[in-house]
Amino acid sequence: MPALWQYLAIAGIRTVSAFPPGSPQKKGFDWDSTRYLIAFGDSYTYVQGTHGHQNYSFIGDLQNFEYDAETLLADKIVQNQTATAEGGPNWVEYLTGCGLKEGLTSPFDCERQLWDFAFAGSDISVAYTPLHHNYTVSLVNQVTQFTTYGQPVLSQHISAPQTLVAIWIGINDIGDSAKYAVDFPAFYDTLLTTLFASVQEIYGQGYRSYLFVNLPPLDRTPGNQATSQPYPNATQIAWYNDALAQHAAAFHRNHTDTNVHLFDAHSVLSEIMDHPAKYGIVNTTNFCAGYDQPDIAWNYRSYSCPTPLEEYFWFNSGHLTSHVHKILAGVLKGELKKWST
Ligand SMILES: *[C@@H]1O[C@H](CO)[C@@H](O)[C@H](O)[C@H]1NC(C)=O
Ligand SMILES: *[C@@H]1O[C@H](CO)[C@@H](O)[C@H](O)[C@H]1NC(C)=O
Ligand SMILES: *[C@@H]1O[C@H](CO)[C@@H](O)[C@H](O)[C@H]1NC(C)=O
Ligand SMILES: *[C@@H]1O[C@H](CO)[C@@H](O)[C@H](O)[C@H]1NC(C)=O
Ligand SMILES: *[C@@H]1O[C@H](CO)[C@@H](O)[C@H](O)[C@H]1NC(C)=O
Ligand SMILES: *[C@@H]1O[C@H](CO)[C@@H](O)[C@H](O)[C@H]1NC(C)=O
Repeated sequence: MPALWQYLAIAGIRTVSAFPPGSPQKKGFDWDSTRYLIAFGDSYTYVQGTHGHQNYSFIGDLQNFEYDAETLLADKIVQNQTATAEGGPNWVEYLTGCGLKEGLTSPFDCERQLWDFAFAGSDISVAYTPLHHNYTVSLVNQVTQFTTYGQPVLSQHISAPQTLVAIWIGINDIGDSAKYAVDFPAFYDTLLTTLFASVQEIYGQGYRSYLFVNLPPLDRTPGNQATSQPYPNATQIAWYNDALAQHAAAFHRNHTDTNVHLFDAHSVLSEIMDHPAKYGIVNTTNFCAGYDQPDIAWNYRSYSCPTPLEEYFWFNSGHLTSHVHKILAGVLKGELKKWST
């Protein structure tokens, strides 16, 4: 079982620690026997649920924070043009194969069950950035809600050793705070201290395998490409991603019985943007104005879009296309297989 730092090294991320020598023997991660993915995050990760807030969640919202066992167990993943923030399946759906087909899917009917508590528009905590809406569930609250209402029910149906917990967050935080007058490296460190207090809470429920995803090159959104003063800028993204790598390594050091994988989405997405043709993409500079129109799949030319949506990198001003999510999930799946012992 290679240590975390080896993966970080492969990913090209500097890190502070190696796997401590003489640490107790632990069970390695195994993707093939992973049957459950529990996800937290924002619009990049959320899926629509029949008991969710439309366009925002699989289940509940801030005003409908409490849910019962029946509601969770009967909830179904919706797949259609408006059920994700990318006009089609997103990375957790491609990774698990759960909820890919049009219509409704119960997580229980999937070979790899997807239990997705991400909420679109989420930041880490209201302590640092305001809610996007009064019904937004921050990451900290996603974990509180899961701990209070989700875990007591799910623990009867899924097994922690066969579960991977996936967290992709920070996309809204870095945008919302980009113009703050703060010492950014210290600010990002504080954000991540708060994030990992929530991770600690999940750890306390018996989960031992974790996947963290770093920030995309958000300094290269269509809007940011069009300005000489992007926000966030590349330096800010790098600071945040460094802080995430350090906190992930520290979490692993503090809990040597965990498997921790940091997925360098930033490198993968930068590679796609730099060599789009290799990935069947022609447009990295802009998004198609008619991206949310019901007839966009075939009628894109009438919205002044020279190519179909799947040949675009950006779905809209801040989201990746479903095609890019598919590529990302494919690379990640390869890493998870390699990571398995
Ligand atoms: C969800 O988004 C769709 C498409 O943009 C919109 O028509 C619908 O009104 C939205 N629903 C809610 C509850 O905001
Ligand atoms: C997607 O499915 C939801 C739930 O069944 C439905 O409310 C919504 O109108 C559908 N949207 C499209 C574009 O079919
Ligand atoms: C949330 O905001 C909406 C729109 O501003 C408002 O109508 C609603 O009363 C608010 N709900 C709560 C619980 O604050
Ligand atoms: C990005 O923004 C930060 C904070 O304002 C600033 O310190 C840094 O120099 C900027 N980097 C670039 C490349 O503009
Ligand atoms: C390290 O782990 C202990 C025991 O689980 C926990 O109480 C503490 O908060 C952790 N510290 C950090 C920095 O994660
Ligand atoms: C990229 O998309 C924009 C907006 O749809 C369009 O104007 C532009 O021509 C496209 N560029 C390429 C190379 O397809």
